[in-house]
Amino acid sequence: MTLDKFYRQTIHQRRLNINHYIENKMNFPILEEERANQMIENYLYTYGIPMGILPTIRVNQKDYVVPMVTEEPSVIAAASNGAKHLGNIKARFDRKTIKGQIILTDLTEAEARQALKENKEDWLSFTKKVAYRMVERGGGPLDIEYSSFSSDKNLFHSYYLLFDPCEAMGANALNTVLEALATKIKNDTGGKILMAILSNFNPKNFVRVETILPVERLNINLDKAHHLAEKIAMASEYAQLDPYRATTHNKGIMNGVDAVLIATGNDWRAVEASVHAFASKEGRYRALSQWFYDSKKAELIGQMDIPLPVATVGGTLSIHPMAQWSLELMGNPKAIELAQVIASVGLAQNFAALKAIVSEGIQKGHMGLQARSLAIQVGAKSDEIDPLVKLLKATEGFNSQLARDLLDKMRNS
Ligand code: MEV
Repeated sequence: MTLDKFYRQTIHQRRLNINHYIENKMNFPILEEERANQMIENYLYTYGIPMGILPTIRVNQKDYVVPMVTEEPSVIAAASNGAKHLGNIKARFDRKTIKGQIILTDLTEAEARQALKENKEDWLSFTKKVAYRMVERGGGPLDIEYSSFSSDKNLFHSYYLLFDPCEAMGANALNTVLEALATKIKNDTGGKILMAILSNFNPKNFVRVETILPVERLNINLDKAHHLAEKIAMASEYAQLDPYRATTHNKGIMNGVDAVLIATGNDWRAVEASVHAFASKEGRYRALSQWFYDSKKAELIGQMDIPLPVATVGGTLSIHPMAQWSLELMGNPKAIELAQVIASVGLAQNFAALKAIVSEGIQKGHMGLQARSLAIQVGAKSDEIDPLVKLLKATEGFNSQLARDLLDKMRNS
């Protein structure tokens, strides 16, 4: 049972080895047609995206095997490489909360504020009764806040309900509470309700990850290591300044984040929306992570804040066998722990991308993966793949014809 050099193992070996990490030895779980048909309207086929693992990432001194679903060839290799370099990542996430809003019109701002002042306790206890199951689990409604917005045509009032959804993502639970509360607010204020719906923006609720990397881990040649650390820090500095670069920098982070979200059945659209709004919260789109180089201590320091409203129960998670398998592989973490691991994968992914683009560029790493997929395409058997990849990489501008020719040559020699 080893995850060492996982990429060199055959698919059969990998599956046998990974099974040691799964307590309820599920037969490799697939989404059956009948279940898929219940999940969506107008079901036809199940679209396959490859699932692999990041063999080890250390978060708060605990090692995780992380499932990742992605069609982008370099993502898992880069995340694994990044995680290996970074070592332990410190992650903090105190309480996962979400926010919803009830938006209404036909009131003055003074009336809307006064209504909250007079009714807040009553409204909160009403919502706690509606969400009694969540309250029993230690979560549920926490607070109600108010803001107003005006345009040329309308004055809008928004009551925000802060909510702890415990292990769930909470969209259904919160929307139910909001719709019930909206009717009550309408009766109590005489205002007109425009909508009651969860918001995917909650800028005060995020995971914080941090890592300190002794510079010698970057290269055994210390000069080269210093130089690389300086360039990574500069790349990070630049990404704080230019939204063109910040967008791509964050895309690299989301390569890792989304892959784990999909594997664990989480709503990656909600997280994407939340993350990019968070990246713009200061009025300009910025990079989520920052890297600093402390040349005196010879340490590269990485930090990132990222909102991750993820779940470990409910929604897709409870009905998708692969999502359940994924959570089991990660040791059935609680939602907070899962968010901490996902944030750490994002940071490792970002580190690997920066390291590559400020040094050799990413094409070199991609070339190996392209050569590998070409070798597989032309029918190389598992013991032929590595030698064929080596030959292809030594040849400029390889293509499938060349791969076929080289494979024939190898077999005949
Ligand atoms: C490619 O999918 C992601 C990168 O472009 C990220 C980055 O530039 O930081 C490599």
